[in-house]
Amino acid sequence: MEIKSAEFIISNTDVLKCPVSEMPEYAFIGRSNVGKSSLINMLTARKGLAMTSATPGKTMLINHFLINENWYLVDLPGYGYARRGIKGQDQIRTIIEDYILEREQMSNLFLLIDSRLEPQKIDMEFMEWLGENEIPFSIVFTKTDKLNGGKMRDNVNMYLRKLRTQWEELPPHFVTSSETRLGREEILTYIETINKNLKSK
Ligand code: GTP
Ligand code: MG
Repeated sequence: MEIKSAEFIISNTDVLKCPVSEMPEYAFIGRSNVGKSSLINMLTARKGLAMTSATPGKTMLINHFLINENWYLVDLPGYGYARRGIKGQDQIRTIIEDYILEREQMSNLFLLIDSRLEPQKIDMEFMEWLGENEIPFSIVFTKTDKLNGGKMRDNVNMYLRKLRTQWEELPPHFVTSSETRLGREEILTYIETINKNLKSK
Protein backbone atom coordinates (compact mmCIF):
# COMPACT_ATOMS: atom_id res chain seq x y z
CA MET A 1 0.00 0.00 0.00
CA GLU A 2 1.23 3.44 -0.85
CA ILE A 3 1.21 6.11 1.87
CA LYS A 4 -0.01 9.22 0.10
CA SER A 5 -0.57 11.36 3.16
CA ALA A 6 0.16 11.18 6.88
CA GLU A 7 -0.99 13.94 9.14
CA PHE A 8 -0.81 14.46 12.90
CA ILE A 9 -4.32 15.13 14.21
CA ILE A 10 -4.42 15.27 18.01
CA SER A 11 -2.74 14.20 21.27
CA ASN A 12 -4.63 13.59 24.47
CA THR A 13 -4.84 11.54 27.65
CA ASP A 14 -8.49 10.68 27.39
CA VAL A 15 -10.04 8.12 25.07
CA LEU A 16 -13.25 10.14 25.08
CA LYS A 17 -11.41 13.04 23.43
CA CYS A 18 -10.00 10.97 20.59
CA PRO A 19 -11.27 11.92 17.11
CA VAL A 20 -14.95 11.24 16.55
CA SER A 21 -14.77 9.00 13.50
CA GLU A 22 -15.75 5.66 12.08
CA MET A 23 -12.47 5.11 10.30
CA PRO A 24 -10.48 2.05 11.34
CA GLU A 25 -7.39 2.60 13.45
CA TYR A 26 -4.26 0.64 14.27
CA ALA A 27 -2.47 1.26 17.54
CA PHE A 28 1.09 0.49 18.68
CA ILE A 29 1.85 -0.64 22.20
CA GLY A 30 4.76 -2.19 24.09
CA ARG A 31 7.39 -1.38 26.68
CA SER A 32 8.86 2.11 26.74
CA ASN A 33 11.69 2.47 24.23
CA VAL A 34 10.76 -0.67 22.25
CA GLY A 35 10.40 1.45 19.08
CA LYS A 36 6.68 2.27 18.68
CA SER A 37 7.10 5.86 17.50
CA SER A 38 10.02 4.93 15.25
CA LEU A 39 7.89 2.21 13.63
CA ILE A 40 5.15 4.73 12.84
CA ASN A 41 7.72 6.97 11.18
CA MET A 42 9.13 4.01 9.27
CA LEU A 43 5.70 2.83 8.06
CA THR A 44 4.69 6.30 6.92
CA ALA A 45 8.20 7.11 5.62
CA ARG A 46 8.00 10.41 7.50
CA LYS A 47 10.92 10.82 9.80
CA GLY A 48 9.66 13.32 12.34
CA LEU A 49 5.96 12.46 12.34
CA ALA A 50 5.93 10.70 15.73
CA MET A 51 8.36 11.93 18.36
CA THR A 52 11.09 9.45 19.29
CA SER A 53 13.84 9.50 21.89
CA ALA A 54 16.80 7.43 23.02
CA THR A 55 15.51 7.69 26.60
CA PRO A 56 12.35 5.76 27.54
CA GLY A 57 9.09 7.45 28.43
CA LYS A 58 8.97 9.85 25.47
CA THR A 59 5.38 9.28 24.35
CA MET A 60 3.01 10.24 27.19
CA LEU A 61 -0.22 10.69 25.26
CA ILE A 62 -2.54 9.00 22.80
CA ASN A 63 -1.47 10.37 19.39
CA HIS A 64 -3.64 10.10 16.29
CA PHE A 65 -2.17 10.24 12.79
CA LEU A 66 -4.54 10.25 9.83
CA ILE A 67 -3.27 8.16 6.91
CA ASN A 68 -4.44 8.53 3.29
CA GLU A 69 -7.41 10.41 4.68
CA ASN A 70 -9.16 7.19 5.57
CA TRP A 71 -7.55 5.36 8.48
CA TYR A 72 -5.51 6.17 11.57
CA LEU A 73 -2.25 5.05 13.12
CA VAL A 74 -2.20 5.58 16.87
CA ASP A 75 0.98 5.99 18.92
CA LEU A 76 0.47 5.06 22.56
CA PRO A 77 2.70 5.61 25.61
CA GLY A 78 4.86 2.65 26.57
CA TYR A 79 4.38 0.59 29.70
CA GLY A 80 6.90 -0.63 32.25
CA TYR A 81 9.15 2.40 32.61
CA ALA A 82 10.20 2.08 36.26
CA ARG A 83 11.56 5.62 36.59
CA ARG A 84 8.08 7.03 36.16
CA GLY A 85 7.31 5.78 39.68
CA ILE A 86 4.32 3.69 40.71
CA LYS A 87 1.84 6.54 40.42
CA GLY A 88 3.13 7.67 37.03
CA GLN A 89 3.05 4.10 35.73
CA ASP A 90 -0.51 3.65 37.01
CA GLN A 91 -1.62 6.80 35.20
CA ILE A 92 -0.10 5.63 31.93
CA ARG A 93 -1.59 2.17 32.43
CA THR A 94 -5.06 3.68 32.83
CA ILE A 95 -4.67 5.72 29.63
CA ILE A 96 -3.56 2.63 27.71
CA GLU A 97 -6.21 0.29 29.12
CA ASP A 98 -9.08 2.73 28.65
CA TYR A 99 -8.05 3.33 25.07
CA ILE A 100 -7.75 -0.38 24.27
CA LEU A 101 -11.00 -1.38 25.96
CA GLU A 102 -13.16 1.50 24.80
CA ARG A 103 -11.99 2.46 21.33
CA GLU A 104 -14.30 0.37 19.18
CA GLN A 105 -12.74 1.33 15.84
CA MET A 106 -9.33 0.05 16.98
CA SER A 107 -9.13 -2.77 14.44
CA ASN A 108 -5.81 -4.25 15.41
CA LEU A 109 -3.26 -3.61 18.11
CA PHE A 110 0.40 -4.10 17.22
CA LEU A 111 2.28 -5.30 20.28
CA LEU A 112 5.98 -4.52 19.90
CA ILE A 113 8.64 -6.80 21.33
CA ASP A 114 12.38 -6.07 21.33
CA SER A 115 13.86 -8.90 19.25
CA ARG A 116 17.08 -8.82 21.27
CA LEU A 117 15.54 -9.80 24.59
CA GLU A 118 14.31 -13.01 26.16
CA PRO A 119 10.53 -13.10 26.67
CA GLN A 120 9.71 -10.55 29.38
CA LYS A 121 7.14 -11.21 32.10
CA ILE A 122 5.52 -7.81 31.66
CA ASP A 123 4.82 -8.49 27.96
CA MET A 124 3.51 -12.00 28.65
CA GLU A 125 1.13 -10.62 31.27
CA PHE A 126 0.03 -7.87 28.93
CA MET A 127 -0.74 -10.45 26.22
CA GLU A 128 -2.77 -12.47 28.70
CA TRP A 129 -4.78 -9.37 29.52
CA LEU A 130 -5.37 -8.79 25.78
CA GLY A 131 -6.55 -12.37 25.42
CA GLU A 132 -8.91 -12.11 28.39
CA ASN A 133 -10.42 -9.00 26.88
CA GLU A 134 -10.58 -10.45 23.37
CA ILE A 135 -8.52 -7.67 21.83
CA PRO A 136 -7.29 -8.47 18.30
CA PHE A 137 -3.51 -8.10 18.25
CA SER A 138 -0.41 -9.07 16.38
CA ILE A 139 3.23 -9.14 17.41
CA VAL A 140 5.98 -6.99 15.94
CA PHE A 141 9.60 -7.89 16.67
CA THR A 142 11.62 -4.66 16.60
CA LYS A 143 15.26 -3.54 16.21
CA THR A 144 16.32 -6.63 14.25
CA ASP A 145 19.11 -4.60 12.59
CA LYS A 146 20.93 -4.92 15.91
CA LEU A 147 21.19 -8.71 15.50
CA ASN A 148 22.77 -10.87 12.83
CA GLY A 149 20.40 -12.98 10.72
CA GLY A 150 20.98 -16.25 12.58
CA LYS A 151 20.54 -14.74 16.02
CA MET A 152 17.43 -12.88 14.87
CA ARG A 153 15.79 -16.09 13.63
CA ASP A 154 16.79 -17.96 16.80
CA ASN A 155 15.30 -15.27 19.02
CA VAL A 156 12.05 -15.03 17.06
CA ASN A 157 11.65 -18.82 17.03
CA MET A 158 12.38 -19.04 20.74
CA TYR A 159 9.77 -16.38 21.42
CA LEU A 160 7.15 -18.14 19.32
CA ARG A 161 7.93 -21.46 21.04
CA LYS A 162 7.38 -19.81 24.40
CA LEU A 163 4.07 -18.36 23.21
CA ARG A 164 2.92 -21.78 21.98
CA THR A 165 3.18 -23.08 25.53
CA GLN A 166 0.51 -20.57 26.54
CA TRP A 167 -1.60 -19.98 23.44
CA GLU A 168 -3.48 -22.50 21.35
CA GLU A 169 -3.24 -20.29 18.32
CA LEU A 170 -0.48 -17.78 17.70
CA PRO A 171 -1.27 -14.22 16.66
CA PRO A 172 0.25 -13.01 13.36
CA HIS A 173 3.81 -11.76 13.75
CA PHE A 174 6.10 -9.38 11.88
CA VAL A 175 9.87 -9.09 11.95
CA THR A 176 10.94 -5.47 11.58
CA SER A 177 13.62 -2.82 11.70
CA SER A 178 12.91 0.88 11.59
CA GLU A 179 16.49 1.39 10.38
CA THR A 180 16.40 -0.96 7.38
CA ARG A 181 12.60 -0.81 6.86
CA LEU A 182 12.38 -4.59 7.16
CA GLY A 183 8.72 -5.63 7.57
CA ARG A 184 7.25 -2.41 6.19
CA GLU A 185 5.44 -3.92 3.20
CA GLU A 186 4.14 -6.84 5.27
CA ILE A 187 2.58 -4.60 7.91
CA LEU A 188 1.10 -2.17 5.37
CA THR A 189 -0.37 -5.06 3.37
CA TYR A 190 -1.84 -6.53 6.57
CA ILE A 191 -3.48 -3.20 7.40
CA GLU A 192 -4.76 -2.87 3.84
CA THR A 193 -6.35 -6.32 4.03
CA ILE A 194 -8.15 -5.48 7.27
CA ASN A 195 -9.31 -2.14 5.83
CA LYS A 196 -10.74 -3.94 2.79
CA ASN A 197 -12.51 -6.57 4.90
CA LEU A 198 -14.08 -3.86 7.04
CA LYS A 199 -15.28 -1.97 3.95
CA SER A 200 -16.92 -5.06 2.44
CA LYS A 201 -18.96 -5.72 5.61
P1 GTP B 1 8.31 5.52 24.35
O1 GTP B 1 7.57 6.55 23.57
O2 GTP B 1 9.27 6.09 25.33
O3 GTP B 1 7.41 4.48 24.94
O4 GTP B 1 9.30 4.73 23.33
P2 GTP B 1 8.99 4.15 21.86
O5 GTP B 1 8.56 2.74 21.98
O6 GTP B 1 8.10 5.06 21.08
O7 GTP B 1 10.45 4.11 21.24
P3 GTP B 1 11.10 5.12 20.15
O8 GTP B 1 10.50 4.92 18.81
O9 GTP B 1 11.14 6.50 20.71
O10 GTP B 1 12.59 4.51 20.06
C1 GTP B 1 13.42 4.38 21.19
C2 GTP B 1 14.88 4.32 20.75
O11 GTP B 1 15.11 3.13 20.00
C3 GTP B 1 15.29 5.48 19.83
O12 GTP B 1 16.61 5.83 20.16
C4 GTP B 1 15.20 4.86 18.45
O13 GTP B 1 16.09 5.48 17.52
C5 GTP B 1 15.62 3.43 18.71
N1 GTP B 1 15.02 2.51 17.74
C6 GTP B 1 13.71 2.31 17.50
N2 GTP B 1 13.51 1.39 16.55
C7 GTP B 1 14.73 0.99 16.15
C8 GTP B 1 15.20 0.03 15.18
O14 GTP B 1 14.45 -0.65 14.47
N3 GTP B 1 16.55 -0.11 15.09
C9 GTP B 1 17.43 0.59 15.85
N4 GTP B 1 18.74 0.35 15.69
N5 GTP B 1 17.03 1.49 16.77
C10 GTP B 1 15.71 1.69 16.92
MG1 MG C 1 7.06 6.70 21.66
